[in-house]
Amino acid sequence: MTTAFDLAADAAAFLRKRFAGDHHIVAVLGSGWADAVGVLGAGDRCAISEVPGFKKPSALGHGGEAISLTIGSSRVLVLTGRTHFYEGHGVAPVVHGVRTAAALGCKVAVLTNGAGVLREDWPIGEPVMISDHINLTGQSPMTGDNPPAPLAGRFVDLTDAYSKRLRAIARGASPMNEGVYLGLHGPHYETPAEIRAARSWGADLVGMSTVLEVIAARHVGLEVLALSLPTNLAAGISPTPLSGEEVIAVGKKSAARAGEVLRAVLSAIDAAA
Ligand code: HPA
Repeated sequence: MTTAFDLAADAAAFLRKRFAGDHHIVAVLGSGWADAVGVLGAGDRCAISEVPGFKKPSALGHGGEAISLTIGSSRVLVLTGRTHFYEGHGVAPVVHGVRTAAALGCKVAVLTNGAGVLREDWPIGEPVMISDHINLTGQSPMTGDNPPAPLAGRFVDLTDAYSKRLRAIARGASPMNEGVYLGLHGPHYETPAEIRAARSWGADLVGMSTVLEVIAARHVGLEVLALSLPTNLAAGISPTPLSGEEVIAVGKKSAARAGEVLRAVLSAIDAAA
């Protein structure tokens, strides 16, 4: 039987051939970040849908490419979009990118997303760092058969899910606010009552991605750094109704700043390697 890990190995073999060799870091560009890729520099590219197991991202504002570029001495695989659980394909395609990256030799995953923010003092469009998460998707990438040896078992430890080491490096490269990300199923936005509950649980940010990828990434031994672009105040705090178009518009306006922060962070991770 072909497992999700076999499919990731096939995808890695494809990328290794297409981009001539292994990579060190994977960067996943979520809502609001796809336009930041221009700041990262030129690279070799292919359509993500050509790579085994990947779907063309259907979420608004997501690109559909795999790009191989070099930052310092690091080879960086950039995925300009992601598959969300709410797209209805199950959990495996959502985490295929990080599993593929690990099979391609990556040791670090830098995951980005657009998020609603519960902190009125955090500027919209200014990237922040995720320090921990609350997974309310009701899903886990670790259900089903125990992963085949030599992979670790299914009971993934998430104590240090968002690497303290990488957060210190990122902070040094670009000082940022840090907070807890609440991952929800979506694709509808939250009610004001849900946001009040989220606040009482200690959430600073809300979104519909990232948490499942982080769990899968930790399972395959990737060190994780995650950045959010606050695109709107959360429901009930925002003076205006929420919309996907607003998220995209903020991403477009913030592309240069998001790209600058991402480049600084990726360069600092390279320098510390
Ligand atoms: N809620 C959930 N996901 C989001 C939001 C939000 O307010 N903004 C961007 N992604």
